[in-house]
Amino acid sequence: MHVFVTGGAGYIGSCCCEYLLDQGHQVTVFDALLTGYRQAVDPRANFIEGNLADYAAIDSAIKKASPDGLIHFAAFIEVGESMSDPLKYFRNNVANALNLCQAAVENQVPKLVFSSTAAVYGMPSNIPISEDEPTDPINPYGEAKLMFEKILSWQHRLKGLHYCALRYFNAAGASRNYGEAHRPESHLIPLIMEAAEGKRKLIRIFGDDYDTPDGTCIRDYVHVLDLAQAHLLALQSDFCGSLNLGSGFGHSVKEVVEMVRRVSGKRFTVEVVARRPGDPARLIADSSAAKRILGWQPVYDSLEQIVQSAWDWRCKNPDGYSS
Ligand code: UFG
Repeated sequence: MHVFVTGGAGYIGSCCCEYLLDQGHQVTVFDALLTGYRQAVDPRANFIEGNLADYAAIDSAIKKASPDGLIHFAAFIEVGESMSDPLKYFRNNVANALNLCQAAVENQVPKLVFSSTAAVYGMPSNIPISEDEPTDPINPYGEAKLMFEKILSWQHRLKGLHYCALRYFNAAGASRNYGEAHRPESHLIPLIMEAAEGKRKLIRIFGDDYDTPDGTCIRDYVHVLDLAQAHLLALQSDFCGSLNLGSGFGHSVKEVVEMVRRVSGKRFTVEVVARRPGDPARLIADSSAAKRILGWQPVYDSLEQIVQSAWDWRCKNPDGYSS
């Protein structure tokens, strides 16, 4: 297949492109490089620097590529920033993405796979969370992702667009050549690793008074290459709709800290501070629908494998992509 990937210079996008290319597919990356890195684009991929705000640019790129499928990763991803600058999120993640949607329909792209998020569920009442759980985002990031899912669903009903929205839980780990290097960094595993590397003084745990066994928040960490596998399966499937992607295992913040300590063999300071507003105590996915419908079979089923792959990538790339 020839797969057109928006946001292929970002964390999950770059790992997914490497996976697709390893599987023998052809890839065209379309990325504005606002938060992604040119060095994160696999040299085997075609690269087009462009912004989704520019309809002519995305339309002509899709026309030229004439892809068999499209994966849409390009988006802003900072939940905290979305609370202070909501319009930035609605503008980019919804309004600009309309151009992509229109160009996909105009150019008869056979299937669009969308990078969605567990943030569409807000504060869920049932754990593990299935797709039947009501969607009720508590921040503009999650709301914008949900809005785009709804737009895709209307484009499906009215214009025949085939799509699949994949709701990731906590993406983590690295592929052979690509890993997590956000600027600024706000995600737990890379932040702990920065503390282990001596790049930050300490790691702060946001609250140890939650109703969980050790008092810290529980999340479902899923390996980025397992996510990549699901994207390829979704492109190949006839299924239209939304699916959860998680490992189904929950790990507390303290367990993740301990795992980084064990894998890295480094000592670092940990400080417990106040809760971060808007953090649910537990988020664990029920991904049985993705397994049943897509035939998804995650291979990285332990936190240790996930943390080890992230640590190996950092050891090989101590400066991330900054060189
Ligand atoms: N945490 C800390 N200290 C830190 C950073 C994070 O204790 O310095 C804690 C958080 O409070 C949370 C856990 O570590 O309990 C994971 O936090 P992340 O920021 O790494 O991830 P989130 O679970 O907040 O967010 C992730 C994705 C979002 C997505 C969300 C879905 O990164 O894109 O899951 O709920 F929206």
